[in-house]
Amino acid sequence: MPASTTLSGRRNIPLLDLRAQHQTIRDEVMAAITRVVDSQQFILGEEVRQFEEEVAAYCGTSFAIGCASGSDALFLALLALGIGPGDEVLTSPYSFFATAGEITRVGAVPVFVDIDEPTFNLDVRLIEERLAAHPKIRAILPVHLFGGCADMDPICAIARAHGLPVIEDAAQSIGAEYKGRRAGSIGQLGCFSFYPTKNLGGYGDGGMLTTSDADLSSRLRALRVHGSTTRYVHEWVGVNSRLDALQAAVLRVKLRYLDEWSAGRQRNAEYYRTRLTDLSLPVVLPSTTYFQTRHIYNQFTMRCPDRDNLQMYLKQQSIGSEIYYPLPLHLQPCYADLGYKKGDFPVSERFAAEALSIPVQPELAGDDIEYICDTIQAFFAR
Ligand SMILES: Cc1ncc(COP(=O)(O)O)c(C=O)c1O
Repeated sequence: MPASTTLSGRRNIPLLDLRAQHQTIRDEVMAAITRVVDSQQFILGEEVRQFEEEVAAYCGTSFAIGCASGSDALFLALLALGIGPGDEVLTSPYSFFATAGEITRVGAVPVFVDIDEPTFNLDVRLIEERLAAHPKIRAILPVHLFGGCADMDPICAIARAHGLPVIEDAAQSIGAEYKGRRAGSIGQLGCFSFYPTKNLGGYGDGGMLTTSDADLSSRLRALRVHGSTTRYVHEWVGVNSRLDALQAAVLRVKLRYLDEWSAGRQRNAEYYRTRLTDLSLPVVLPSTTYFQTRHIYNQFTMRCPDRDNLQMYLKQQSIGSEIYYPLPLHLQPCYADLGYKKGDFPVSERFAAEALSIPVQPELAGDDIEYICDTIQAFFAR
């Protein structure tokens, strides 16, 4: 259990306790690691190939291509589509930095569109106008933030009408579904991260691309090994971005538990929803209207006006929480020359000031959540 009791007798609940999960699968993981070490096959190889097949099946795509991180997955996706200097890519300003950073890394420019309240993701009503003002946009890159999908039908319809590919940033959303389709199988390409805090987290860095396009799949397989299709013959200039066999072996063990863990997160989210709604506190809970089928709650993120003081109060009561994300991407110092200013994306800016993610991992017990809700209630009752 992640909750532990301190010497003072109080509970201590971190935002995420990876050790709690590891304890439940330790023997299987150690056996998988030993298998790889004994084989001395560390880079790509059979473990990675099998894991790729399993992820493709899990996500409902024809192909999955392992790489070194979620950031590299985004980079390789853009590279495979031939996006580079002179091009622009439409995306959300309310995400982890890599979403925009990788667009910049290929030499293109991110063009932001604000998010809408219920989804935390691209506001589809604003996309057409942005495309009209930016004829150099070559792709749309929606983010499935916190484990819930962006509104993909309108996004894909607009993209199709403009002849643009859709790259899904599904780094936080493996197994999330939009109207029965899995994240990463809806656009041309899906990008996943196996950073340890993700629902499917490795024991180090790792990433994956998914696609059902055979040409894109072969290009990606080459691009991750310096653009080589035949040894020492380089058709393109790619990078070194390979998934290593140790990560694949660990992730194959964890993939078998992923649905069970995501169900635990859903159960905890429902528990919060019921308790916090009953308490009628001045907090906005994640909306249920966009959970078209399956939200996997990589984060349970609520909003409240006195967020910073609430976070401090939770910390004093030994409850972990995190602000995802305190500074939207259009206001990042490195993007000062893009000409954005405060007020350009009011929803993202408000969320940056109000959002707070609280513990939701499946190993939490009901009384841990009860304690967190009671503590939030005590904060507002002061
Ligand atoms: C939305 C989003 N995109 C991209 C990434 C990048 O993934 P990685 O850390 O594996 O490079 C992350 C990881 O935190 C993310 O949350």
